[in-house]
Amino acid sequence: MSDDAIWVDAGSSSDLSERPRALRAQGRDVLVAVVDGEPTAVDNACLHRGASLEGGVCRDGVVTCPSHWWRYDLRTGALLGHPGSALATYPCRVAGDRVEVLLTQAPPALGMREMLLAHARGETVDDA
Ligand code: FES
Repeated sequence: MSDDAIWVDAGSSSDLSERPRALRAQGRDVLVAVVDGEPTAVDNACLHRGASLEGGVCRDGVVTCPSHWWRYDLRTGALLGHPGSALATYPCRVAGDRVEVLLTQAPPALGMREMLLAHARGETVDDA
């Protein structure tokens, strides 16, 4: 476990369902749901254009992005139809009647200058 990882409360287990709910903590935007009785957490940013997946139709553990209908398995983060592409997933646990998600602090966002310098050095940067 990373030194800066902490368990973040995502709500009561009775309040969570297959309908995903956004959780913002540690500088991250995460989508939390309960699928097949197990809590799940994935990045809440579509791999297409970064739209929030909250509010997307969810059925059988698959959420559909409300923007252009890309579909993700909430258990694995997998983008359906695109092997090897997936949203980041986060460990979850149930503590009493609460669901918790293990999150590390997100790296600070780069300014435009730092982003351009990183691109010039050939580094991969997250410009979301
Ligand atoms: S932003 Fe999600 S499918 Fe386009």
